[in-house]
Amino acid sequence: MKEGLEDVVACQTTISRIALENGKAILEYRGYDIRDLARKACFEEVVYLLLYGELPKKYELQDFKIELAERRELPPQIIGLLTHLPPYTHPMVVLRTATSYLGSLDKKINVKTREETFNKAKDLIAKFPTIVAYYHRIRTGRNVIPPALEFSHAANFLYMLHGEEPSKTAERALDMDLILHAEHELNASTFAARIAASTLADIYACVVAATGTLMGPLHGGAAQEVMKMLREIASPRKADEYVRRKIEAGERIMGFGHRVYRGVIDPRAELLRYLARRLAAEGSTKWFEISEAIAKAAYKYKKLLPNVDFYSASVYANLGIPDDLFVNIFAMGRISGWTAHIIEQYENNRLIRPRAEYVGEKGKKFVPISKR
Ligand code: ACO
Repeated sequence: MKEGLEDVVACQTTISRIALENGKAILEYRGYDIRDLARKACFEEVVYLLLYGELPKKYELQDFKIELAERRELPPQIIGLLTHLPPYTHPMVVLRTATSYLGSLDKKINVKTREETFNKAKDLIAKFPTIVAYYHRIRTGRNVIPPALEFSHAANFLYMLHGEEPSKTAERALDMDLILHAEHELNASTFAARIAASTLADIYACVVAATGTLMGPLHGGAAQEVMKMLREIASPRKADEYVRRKIEAGERIMGFGHRVYRGVIDPRAELLRYLARRLAAEGSTKWFEISEAIAKAAYKYKKLLPNVDFYSASVYANLGIPDDLFVNIFAMGRISGWTAHIIEQYENNRLIRPRAEYVGEKGKKFVPISKR
């Protein structure tokens, strides 16, 4: 038995491929290299690719962008929910709860025709940023800013969050970040979604399972922990000592290590490093410089390499995104991968039900309660 199902192949997929070839990590979405997609495509194009399996033609992309934009606004009941949740609720708990509530409002919740499932998937992809931005505005005592149809998915989120049109650099940075977070084969949250889908649970239930799983600090929750570390270290000069002490104490450095990318760098981390450096050049270099010092020390003391969550932290900080929204940004990208996997599971389903190796006591004689 492999602890943590390491290297166990649990399903077949045509959505993404991770491989280590000639000492280099490959990550492809539907056969396209992540480096090309990040540099040359926009997020909506990648969502189309993940859902439909092919890159859109120009007119298809235009129609798809309009369709997603038109689905952005939230029903009044969801806005009511966001108003009633306590302001200390973690935004990922809010996202999970709002997804569940969206399911309760959907009269066709259990209709699983291809058309209906795609509609629900596009709705969730379009609405995730609105839920996140609205909740943040509401918890900070400000008016919500309705989605702007003319803005891209990335620009619209920053606009709804900050109340002003983002710079082209900020828009492109978030757009690229969402592409890099969109899909990653059978990671823990996607697996959770596929397990739920394999029982033929509704798509909202599958996404709730995935959202809850993504929150954990060993998965998507790591970026928020990275930011905590950057704040604690506060200066590049202190990074080496900090990392050395953590490693000596047997503690984990958040944003480093990966179950699949062992001994090779996560290709998403390379691209995010580039983004972080670019944003730093136009704003504050502080977080990027501390990140670089941590990365150097983590390699020096334990040959650790950064994962997708490491440079995301300084990217988000330079975009003015509050620390506790970091996982939500991840979810805003990954919802496209989750829904593509849910659709794939529905379309070729067999219940996922593994076995456990029993290692407890056997055949014990029952003792009546009066005699225990
Ligand atoms: N800091 C310190 N040491 C580490 C780290 C780390 N971040 N990651 C792995 N290691 C070490 C382990 O201590 C172990 O060392 P040992 O052989 O001397 O005992 C070795 O590397 C192998 O580690 P495992 O625990 O077997 O790795 P596993 O595949 O189980 O865990 C995980 C992967 C959970 C991502 C791990 O690297 C970790 O905890 N990282 C920090 C949290 C994090 O950044 N999570 C985000 C991952 S990316 C994502 O989900 C989006």
